[in-house]
Amino acid sequence: MCGIIGAVGLNNIQNILLQSLKSMEYRGYDSAGICIQGEQHLHTRKAKGKLINLEHLLEQSPLTGSLGIGHTRWATHGVPEVRNAHPHQTESIAIVHNGIIENHKQLRESLSAAGATFDSDTDSETIPWLWQQEYTKNNNPEIAFHNTLNQLQGAFAIAGIQANEHKLWFARRGSPLLLAKGEAGVFVASDALAVGTVASHVIYLQEGQWGWSDLEHIHIFNEDGSQAAIQWEPMPEMVAATEKGPYAHYMLKEIHEQPRVFLDILNAYAPDKQHIHFPQAAFIENDPLPSRIIMVACGTSYHAALTARYWLERYLKIPVEVDVASEFRYRDPVIGDNTWFITLSQSGETADTLEALRLFKQQTPQNKTLVFCNVASSSMVRESDGVIELYAGPEIGVASTKAYTAQLLALALFSLKLASNANAMPPEETTKHIQYLFDASQGVESLLNNTPIFDKLTPLFSQSHGALFLGRGPCYPLALEGALKLKEISYLHAEGYPAGEMKHGPIALIDENLPVIVLALRQYHLDKVISNLHEVQARGAKVILITDIPEKEYPTNVDTIIHIPEGDFFSAPLLASIPLQYLAYNVARFKGTDVDQPRNLAKSVTVE
Ligand code: G6P
Repeated sequence: MCGIIGAVGLNNIQNILLQSLKSMEYRGYDSAGICIQGEQHLHTRKAKGKLINLEHLLEQSPLTGSLGIGHTRWATHGVPEVRNAHPHQTESIAIVHNGIIENHKQLRESLSAAGATFDSDTDSETIPWLWQQEYTKNNNPEIAFHNTLNQLQGAFAIAGIQANEHKLWFARRGSPLLLAKGEAGVFVASDALAVGTVASHVIYLQEGQWGWSDLEHIHIFNEDGSQAAIQWEPMPEMVAATEKGPYAHYMLKEIHEQPRVFLDILNAYAPDKQHIHFPQAAFIENDPLPSRIIMVACGTSYHAALTARYWLERYLKIPVEVDVASEFRYRDPVIGDNTWFITLSQSGETADTLEALRLFKQQTPQNKTLVFCNVASSSMVRESDGVIELYAGPEIGVASTKAYTAQLLALALFSLKLASNANAMPPEETTKHIQYLFDASQGVESLLNNTPIFDKLTPLFSQSHGALFLGRGPCYPLALEGALKLKEISYLHAEGYPAGEMKHGPIALIDENLPVIVLALRQYHLDKVISNLHEVQARGAKVILITDIPEKEYPTNVDTIIHIPEGDFFSAPLLASIPLQYLAYNVARFKGTDVDQPRNLAKSVTVE
């Protein structure tokens, strides 16, 4: 959700800014811009659309200078046009912003009355004008910047420069921001991926921190203005992980990485195939089981949580509530004691999930919080009592694939661990289930070695007006995820439905042009799902059956069947995810959409 970069370098930093924006394009791609300090003035270039347009503009009219900022945008306030693209500036101050300034209307009014002239419809443009006003009032630049921040309400990560001072300014409240350094200079960025090739060390800024840097000095202050300690950490290795390799798209690469990701997770948490241990969440081991679990997430991560509810409730016999974060935080949730709160997030920065976590902690600080997360340095990881890291590696494709199955797998291990803590599962049964999870890695590998079987699905979507995904039990959330994947990248309307509920409405949609994807797995109410399949068939739908049952055992007369290896209660959804991902990918390619950067979406949604 918008990527920001700032750099103060030894040499010309135009190409570093561009390269960094390229690595963050997944955060937003409706317009982009950079601003570089010239000898006397600030020079800005902005372009609508993808970053390539800005690159072309800079080829024609390049910028030179060693201090600058850049932005790739996902619009919140104001349509994607050049005038709304960042950086925003006055004559002498330019900023890039990720987040939302909630009091922008009041600021705009008072600043306009004082002579500010706004060119854009954005909330962000109030920042340079406010800063300018404070700078005029105060001789001390630090006080001017701090005063500016104190008047902003909402969430922000900001990088800024001035025409007359060689300093890179930065601030973080509610949106992610890090500081990094390397031989080429000092940087601020929304994501470590942006500076992975130029920086060797990093500081993840804390909530409310702000400061400035030039090549010799770095000053970080806390929200109250006190000086903060400067503690550099080595930059994580990530360059190879962010290259596409031989694959046409990041999404395809990430689908193919899943067998490796599964093994990494299993070897991290259950290396001997018997015992499960989460080293960054000691309370799972030490505390008694809670009387209730609440799980909160957004998008694909929410779907992973829904599947885990079936696993946890079956063995723990305690209520497990699952909610989308934007609903949880505004519905005055009743929490109570003895409750564990679990968030799930690929990025660890999704605004609604993060705020739900903060709300929970504020209301019941005595309760424990746990996050399943793919980004070890993220806000959610830092703010939770326990962490189950997903080890999926950077996920660049906007539609989540490997982070989703990584969540499912980590949730399966977590469920097994709690079942064993509750004496609800004998050790030999746990070992058997862990073996199935190891086997799922090979099962997925074998599916991915035979991808032509997925090609026959695509033509069924050429005339379709949508698609319906059906499943029961843990396959119901899988149906939701299959539908989400398809709509995200192919723009086809798709619905996921509990197969047993289909008669209460969606059956009216069925005609000979509607593909209906039925997930029928031995583990989850097979007979009942097959009855639902017959009901769909009887109404002329084009059925695609995804199953682990041989046709001779269960004749269905369906033309299009995708056979997957058989899993157990925990591993079956991992295997069934693969055809759903491949289906969405193939349909998107067939329709010619932008697979990795589908329209209107962003990978990391850091505004509510
Ligand atoms: C966005 C992404 C989805 C993702 C969701 C939650 O909508 O496009 O792929 O599932 O955010 O993100 P998180 O990082 O919290 O898992």
